[in-house]
Amino acid sequence: MSNPRRGLLFLYPGKKLSHLPNLIDRYEDQMTFIDEINRRRTFAIVSHPDAGKTTLTEKLLLYGGAIQVAGAVKSNKIRKTATSDWMEIERQRGISVATSVMGFDYQGIKVNILDTPGHKDFAEDTFRTLTAVDSVIVVVDAAKGVEAQTERLVEVCRMRNTPIIVFINKMDRPGKDAFELLDEIEQKLSLHLTPLSWPINMGPKFKGVYSIYSSSLYLFQSDKQHIAEGVAFNDLSSSELDTLIGEDAETLRNELELVQGVYPEFNRNDYLSGAICPVFFGSALNNFGVKELLDCFIRIAPTPIGRDTEERRIEPQEEKFTGFVFKIHANMDPNHRDRIAFVRIVSGRFERNKPYTHVRLKRELKFSNPTAFMAQKKSVLDEAYPGDIVGLYDAGNFKIGDTLTEGEVLNYKGIPSFSPEQFRYVENADPMKSKQLAKGLEQLTDEGVAQLFTGKMTGRKIIGTVGELQFEVIQYRLLHEYGASCRYEPISLYKTAWITSENEAQLADFKTRKALNLAADKEGRDVFLAESPYALQIAMEKYPDIQFHFTSEF
Ligand code: G4P
Repeated sequence: MSNPRRGLLFLYPGKKLSHLPNLIDRYEDQMTFIDEINRRRTFAIVSHPDAGKTTLTEKLLLYGGAIQVAGAVKSNKIRKTATSDWMEIERQRGISVATSVMGFDYQGIKVNILDTPGHKDFAEDTFRTLTAVDSVIVVVDAAKGVEAQTERLVEVCRMRNTPIIVFINKMDRPGKDAFELLDEIEQKLSLHLTPLSWPINMGPKFKGVYSIYSSSLYLFQSDKQHIAEGVAFNDLSSSELDTLIGEDAETLRNELELVQGVYPEFNRNDYLSGAICPVFFGSALNNFGVKELLDCFIRIAPTPIGRDTEERRIEPQEEKFTGFVFKIHANMDPNHRDRIAFVRIVSGRFERNKPYTHVRLKRELKFSNPTAFMAQKKSVLDEAYPGDIVGLYDAGNFKIGDTLTEGEVLNYKGIPSFSPEQFRYVENADPMKSKQLAKGLEQLTDEGVAQLFTGKMTGRKIIGTVGELQFEVIQYRLLHEYGASCRYEPISLYKTAWITSENEAQLADFKTRKALNLAADKEGRDVFLAESPYALQIAMEKYPDIQFHFTSEF
């Protein structure tokens, strides 16, 4: 740490000497605070199911010493085969509380990996998690290339200019040609790439990678226990390369020349602004290319970044604590109805037992058991810093997007809800339990499991979700957690759109004519229920001054 006395001369000029001990304390506190922020890297790994996200996460945790054996994270997966087996999903949801955030220290850096559900029916959960990270690593299967879910996830990252690193996995298997893969990624994901490593052959003939970033050669061994060490290799024309990789040496030289000619040189600022994305090749299962990825990641990935509120931008270095809830997880134990709200700390130092303002409720709350997540373990924490995620036990005070501050009225922006894709009317199946049903629906939708709309004319409740699975989850949880029964009735809906307009007359006319197709969301905002793509198109053409929004972020 820098010399406090020297720093004091700049920070507190003209102060009396008798104040010195106090000032030294304050200065040292401030420096620790800044150091703590700067050593944090908070990110998510995203991929289409089966590309290798879990395997890669696990290998990173092994390097961080956060787990000792492979297989520990695996159980967190909600497998696609389990779509109707949702007792299993409940069990796995329980596990996923523990693995929602996996923190570990590596070379003095505090790495926070936020877990994202792989199952497509939980995509919205993933989108929200992406608001709480500062960067992402996208895993692509070398044989399959870009898959559907990767496209949607990357689109959300691009909208937010989130820095992205691409890890091309499963190089030990026969796959697509490296150039072809990069072309596909650039086109389908609209990204500009810059390879920081380059594969030497692939599949059964895979020999390793050349790290462009560190000018080193990493030779592959198909061995899960082995960690490849790179050898510095600056002079690629040397005959030693031929000795090491035989006939692949010439191909490597030619390909690297081509890479240099075609792709821009790596520049950290371009990566941080989301303009270019570094690419690595490897095999997570064989522990190959993972350490190299991690070593580079901790150097180039962004330190915690600020966020916009509706009122002003907040920077992490600000002294006062602020944070927002991006995920809520119900307790799995039916005897304890509380939930865990996951808060991303944006600025200041969070302290246990200190009163904070819940801005929406205009109430002070204290948290006696804030939870930190270190891989598989949960522990009570006394303080946390920007970039960290804390879990707060909650008896129903929080909903997604809520802001906590030290008193200032701020509302964090950018926790999107997307227009759902599946809809059902929800009806009470047990007239004695209508209160329980209303409370259950309110709380489950606060958690972000689904969206709730109320028909303007009919007063009927409509649930909208991203996937089929949520309907089952809701019915099950209503019964088991709230003692309420519901039944679903079909509704023929294509999409919902939030509507706004400056043209009040046109909006009023639309609302009168389309009264049967209007609903209110939970915040009371107007939503148009479009029965078909055609109905939506006609409405948009006939009412050009009305904006139809497909995400709630407008
Ligand atoms: P996901 O979280 O993205 O869904 O993928 P996950 O890590 O579970 O990996 C999916 C499958 O791909 C797993 O096989 C895993 O072992 C395999 N895999 C991951 N990385 C590599 C790699 O570098 N090379 C090869 N050849 N395979 C890899 P599985 O049979 O579905 O599961 P398991 O039985 O191995 O657990």
